[in-house]
Amino acid sequence: MDYRRLGGTDLDVSVLCFGPMRSAAKDGSNNAVSQSGARALEAALAAGVNFLHSSYEYKTRWMMTEVLRDHPKRKDIHHGIKLPVPDWDDCAFDPAKFRMRVEEALSELATDRIAVLQWMWRTRPNDDDHRLPLLASIMDDVWATFEAMRDEGKVGYLMTLPYTTAATRAALDTGRFAGLVSFLNPIEMELAEFFPELERNGQGFVCIRPLYQGVLTDRRSGWDEVPEGHYLDRLRTENPDAFDQRSAIADAFADEIDGSMTRFALRFPLFSPVVASMVTGLNSVAQVEEAVAALDGVEPRPDLFEKVRALWASGFRPGA
Ligand SMILES: NC(=O)c1ccc[n+]([C@@H]2O[C@H](COP(=O)([O-])OP(=O)(O)OC[C@H]3O[C@@H](n4cnc5c(N)ncnc54)[C@H](OP(=O)(O)O)[C@@H]3O)[C@@H](O)[C@H]2O)c1
Repeated sequence: MDYRRLGGTDLDVSVLCFGPMRSAAKDGSNNAVSQSGARALEAALAAGVNFLHSSYEYKTRWMMTEVLRDHPKRKDIHHGIKLPVPDWDDCAFDPAKFRMRVEEALSELATDRIAVLQWMWRTRPNDDDHRLPLLASIMDDVWATFEAMRDEGKVGYLMTLPYTTAATRAALDTGRFAGLVSFLNPIEMELAEFFPELERNGQGFVCIRPLYQGVLTDRRSGWDEVPEGHYLDRLRTENPDAFDQRSAIADAFADEIDGSMTRFALRFPLFSPVVASMVTGLNSVAQVEEAVAALDGVEPRPDLFEKVRALWASGFRPGA
């Protein structure tokens, strides 16, 4: 397993971060999905993964508790958690809720410290018009609450998932964040425009969903291969062009892809030196093994990263 220093921190994190969103039954039942997810988490830890992502929202932490409670590597793990406060209808920042979300994670993950807080501020509607003024009004309180918990040794670094480029600009301008945690793959490249700035300022980036929820894999190449009722149905509505975009990437970078879209997509974010790790949904030992093998020895390749970004910027119309 390779490790990279996460910018803005003193953490050396594995380039693969375990994403548990679909790795267990949400009702707590120890069914085949949960058993497969637990084996995947065990395999990831055995392979050297030291960075785990989680959220109370996924309702899969119970499986992580079972694996981590007595795990010999428990003390070596860096945890990153989703921390949405305020959340949708809260309207205001509540320090007690911030603290409660951290305390529940400490307990459920059987750990003394959450290394990375992926803080988020949500409104309803969750648009820039509502979120930008809110950020300005709560940032000092968020920072004070974070600092108090950091001084208690319970949290490490404050990062954020800002959702939009305008909110990213506003968040970075506060000067409070060690870096960003957000979506990045060849189809979601909106935040790549901030990478030169992050690099200049020594801030970090943790990538979420390198496989674009499974679209950028060898498993399927069109919507006709996605069964009705699959979780990708939501993406079908949000981005009906997803598989056309996948085809454009496959055509433009056939040599680099060299027969495996999964491998290319897993390696792609690490072509940027700013990206330290990728939160990847891993639901089976086979998926862990494929990711671990694919991520061996990936060096930054800024030129290739920019070529992929240029295809994205063209709207997936090469030469446009
Ligand atoms: N707002 C947020 O903070 C936020 C939002 C979304 C996700 N996340 C985090 O990011 C993680 C990853 O997100 P994601 O799962 O949506 O996206 P992803 O990592 O791009 O895609 C993962 C999916 O691809 C499939 N897959 C994994 N390895 C594969 C392989 N070797 N070959 C073929 N298919 C493979 C799996 O689906 P199947 O097993 O179903 O085939 C898996 O669920 C989540 O677990 C969560 O921790 C955070």
